Amino acid sequence: MDAKLQRRVQRYGWDKAAEQYEKFWAAQLLPAQQLLLELADLKLGESVLDIACGTGLVTFPAAAAVGGNGRVVGTDLSEEMIKGITAIAAERGVRGEFSRQDAEQLEFTDGTFDAALCALGLMYVPDGQRAVREMLRVTKPGGRAVAAVWGARKNCGWAEIFPIVERRVASDVCPLFFMLGSGDSLADTFALAGFENVEARRITTTLDYASAEEALGASFAGGPVALAYSRFDDAARESAHAEYLESVAAFRDGAGYKVPGEFVVVRGTRAR
Ligand SMILES: C[S@@+](CC[C@H](N)C(=O)[O-])C[C@H]1O[C@@H](n2cnc3c(N)ncnc32)[C@H](O)[C@@H]1O
Repeated sequence: MDAKLQRRVQRYGWDKAAEQYEKFWAAQLLPAQQLLLELADLKLGESVLDIACGTGLVTFPAAAAVGGNGRVVGTDLSEEMIKGITAIAAERGVRGEFSRQDAEQLEFTDGTFDAALCALGLMYVPDGQRAVREMLRVTKPGGRAVAAVWGARKNCGWAEIFPIVERRVASDVCPLFFMLGSGDSLADTFALAGFENVEARRITTTLDYASAEEALGASFAGGPVALAYSRFDDAARESAHAEYLESVAAFRDGAGYKVPGEFVVVRGTRAR
């Protein structure tokens, strides 16, 4: 695996996906984001960091939970995501601090935040262990961190998207995508990093697409393979679309698709 290449593919891929991201993903990711926020149990006046914040689907509810006397910081590898969340915050009158930062190398001093969150971001990071260690480092003693990832490959009906793309453009999109969501991997990663009282929840979900176009848009243009996909010519697009729809054919439901999925959400606390 080429970590540098993976980072570039992620950075510029999410730049391309940023504008379409909420349209395709806001509803589908909600169960994982809600559980993450529930486990974070944010209180008025607290400081919270949302790592890989994207357009702020978790950041804004977190901002509401900590209130005007709290502090909300969002970081993401993609410049376009940071531009997007900054614009949305201005529109909504939310006071937050947003900056482009790699989850593996956060630019905060030790023990800065009451809570560190990362929703559906760790699968894209070349070294997830290092990113979780960073979550621990920036969390205050006695504070907590919560992360959500996609679950095991066998329980995610859309998983063929990665080999379908890789067969057309060698891209190191995210070679270890399902690793953290398998078995106890994410909880073990938290424990290894030094978190205490680690608890994990696994939830099943259904990705509900009203049409084939919606299923294709979410998977190709609106997500992590967007950079590789942008390099496909028309023939490659057509064949990749056909192959992907074939891979989810068992989940056809009328004109659309109901594709099974799974999330894992883990919480840990930093010792006092
Ligand atoms: C599926 S989105 C999740 C966004 C948001 N947390 C949410 O729940 O809607 C994944 C995000 O991870 C970001 N990302 C990918 N690799 C990253 C890295 N190494 N460091 C920080 N962010 C990263 C992407 O730019 C993208 O915004």
